[in-house]
Amino acid sequence: IRDNKRQCVLDTLRLSREQLLEVKRRFSEEMTRGLSKQTHKQASIKMLPTYVRSTPDGSEHGDFLALDLGGSSFRVLLVRVRSGTKRSVDMQQKIYSIPQEIMQGTGEELFNHIVDCIADFLEYMGMKGASLPLGFTFSFPCDQTKLDEYRILLYNLTIYQTMIYIFCFPVLTVLDDEFDLNFVAVVNDTVGTMMTCGYEDPKCEVGLIVGTGTNACYMEEMHNIELVEGDNGRMCVNVEWGAFGENGELEEFCTEFDHLVDACSNYPGKQRYEKMISGMYLGEIVRNVLLDFTAKGLLFRGKVSERLKTRGIFETKFLSQIESDRLAMRQVRSILQHLGLTGSTCDDSVLVKEVCSVVARRAAQLSGAGLAAVVDKIRQNRNLNQLSITVGVDGTLYKTHPHFSAIMQETLRDLAPQCEVTFLKSEDGSGKGAALITAVACRVKNEGQ
Ligand code: BG6
Repeated sequence: IRDNKRQCVLDTLRLSREQLLEVKRRFSEEMTRGLSKQTHKQASIKMLPTYVRSTPDGSEHGDFLALDLGGSSFRVLLVRVRSGTKRSVDMQQKIYSIPQEIMQGTGEELFNHIVDCIADFLEYMGMKGASLPLGFTFSFPCDQTKLDEYRILLYNLTIYQTMIYIFCFPVLTVLDDEFDLNFVAVVNDTVGTMMTCGYEDPKCEVGLIVGTGTNACYMEEMHNIELVEGDNGRMCVNVEWGAFGENGELEEFCTEFDHLVDACSNYPGKQRYEKMISGMYLGEIVRNVLLDFTAKGLLFRGKVSERLKTRGIFETKFLSQIESDRLAMRQVRSILQHLGLTGSTCDDSVLVKEVCSVVARRAAQLSGAGLAAVVDKIRQNRNLNQLSITVGVDGTLYKTHPHFSAIMQETLRDLAPQCEVTFLKSEDGSGKGAALITAVACRVKNEGQ
């Protein structure tokens, strides 16, 4: 009876093939709505034009500067791209921390700090006064009007990010004035991921991130992007797919645990798809299931510990460790102990592992369903019966989880059988990718002259 009760709860987290097909169908519908002038405002997925018009073709050449602004640090990179027989990408970088007081200070202070770091870096490289094209990565949504103009989407900004928004334009001017840098591109990390892999494999026309957050981008036909003038060629669209579900599209697939995680998050109602997929939330779903089981007396001898009530204890790395096939139950138990969940029995460990596996499987299947919609759209755009394409992927969950990628790929094969998809792991989409986007933009500009 106890096991029946547990399985009934876990069944709510299991999706059937029909349900996944329905997710794919709804996802496709939202993509079309996001691209259309009439409906994009109401669409949950924003399908943001990125003004990236091409993936690398290997003829890119030159020195580029990349700036990567993350949560608590800032990287400056010098990227040397060589074409022809010496085709290569070499990078040198320096990481600068952003001190607490600057992070909580004014935007002006932050950007003065950035300017100081760039000055230091150029001096360190012996390149003071050099004139270099520059790419700037933010790892949060940017709404672009041109490749070098942007507005950060305001829906999930921290104070720190809001400052960047307010001060974005002065920064560009400051950077330009001080160093004679040629500001070329503002880069989204998903696009950087696609471009990094695109340099290795010309068939890479999709970028995917499954890490702390999740997102995808792909090369769309210009004539389908109604928000941008011009009908020729292609442009990379930043799907911002984490927002799928904000119009209630995922409601019937959600469980009470998803609702709890959403309600306790910083932005209830937002990023619903992301909250079922990415590393930042999977651990929270697992924790809520465990809380429920414990309260019902099905786990941890019915004792709800303070630790289990603590948000964020299940980081992505624990999910990946617990599901590792090489691990004996004894080791699962020691991970639980390490998490402060003491007093677990062997049965408890088996159950915790099962919960982790069900939650991660659903996440992988859901991302597979979204990806199936994306690649099938590309196939239909090109009027192909069969499409062969590569997806560049990054993110800790995808890279470290023992089963995530296999389940996602299996789902994709099942839901998009006319697409043969290869996955390529990307390294440093935010640094190398920023430089490559800049390099491609310079190449395209030169070709047009
Ligand atoms: C990094 C990329 O490797 O992966 C970033 O350079 C990206 O661009 C990040 O944002 C995503 O992974 P995670 O797991 O750190 O969120």
